[in-house]
Amino acid sequence: MATEQYHEPPNELSEKTRTFARMITSLIEEAEAIGWYQQRLSLEKDPEARAIMQNAQQEEFKHFGMDLEFLLRRTPKWQTILKEILFKQGDIVQHGEQAEKDAD
Ligand SMILES: [Fe+2]
Repeated sequence: MATEQYHEPPNELSEKTRTFARMITSLIEEAEAIGWYQQRLSLEKDPEARAIMQNAQQEEFKHFGMDLEFLLRRTPKWQTILKEILFKQGDIVQHGEQAEKDAD
């Protein structure tokens, strides 16, 4: 159904919010695809089929990253929090808790 991505009446939402909702839906779909390829790859034995699936999963990594970057550029607080968590060594939970404190 075309409106499943909305939890509020779409005609009451701004164009910006509808675009945001579409991109959130895209992000979810890319994450699902990454997970589905991961499951297929864990079972597939044929090397050629595996190579194709790995290539496809890599495409989904890229799509997920572009969707996420789009959303972060339009959501400064989300971007600020993720800057404290992503691409860092150490305890992920601690980074998350610190990011939440810093954002308040
Ligand atoms: Fe994709």
